[in-house]
Amino acid sequence: MRIIEPATEADFEQYYQLRYDVLRAPWQQPPGTERASDDDRAIHAMLLDPENRAAGVCRLHFENEEEGQLRFMAIREDLQNQGLGKYLLHYLEDKARDAGCKYITLQARELAVNFYKRYGYKVVKKTHLLFGSIQHYQMEKYL
Ligand SMILES: CC(C)(COP(=O)(O)OP(=O)(O)OC[C@H]1O[C@@H](n2cnc3c(N)ncnc32)[C@H](O)[C@@H]1OP(=O)(O)O)[C@@H](O)C(=O)NCCC(=O)NCCS
Repeated sequence: MRIIEPATEADFEQYYQLRYDVLRAPWQQPPGTERASDDDRAIHAMLLDPENRAAGVCRLHFENEEEGQLRFMAIREDLQNQGLGKYLLHYLEDKARDAGCKYITLQARELAVNFYKRYGYKVVKKTHLLFGSIQHYQMEKYL
């Protein structure tokens, strides 16, 4: 397994496909909803399996000089629960630290809260319900 920052059209095709498959398709959301209007201003990280297929994705953007925010964290379904998410987390935390951020924020799906807690994130508050069913929690971690 290794992490790259997608650069080519083919990289981004895999990147967005995984985002869609994990974070949108199970809730019958239409193709295109996996893309965000500020994706062009984010740092994207993609975990590749030994066959160079996308195994996980996540992105980091800067809310301001002190705050980095993680979004769209997803590990391919057949590779979930094997401890791989931490590699993307640590990669992008390092990027935020290098850029001078003091803390990271994110909106965690309920099922992912324990995952983030394991790596030092704390719940700040309960926030929105996505697709009418997925409770989210704002979490943060000081770097
Ligand atoms: C959340 C996620 C990124 C964690 O990465 P990972 O490599 O699977 O992480 P780990 O193996 O270290 O831990 C998995 C934990 O997430 C939980 N989890 C994540 N997604 C889950 C799902 N769809 N169903 C049940 N549990 C899930 C596991 O139960 C486990 O919880 P635990 O720590 O209490 O045992 C990954 O599981 C994933 O992509 N899940 C689906 C999409 C998602 O929820 N993304 C996060 C958006 S905020």
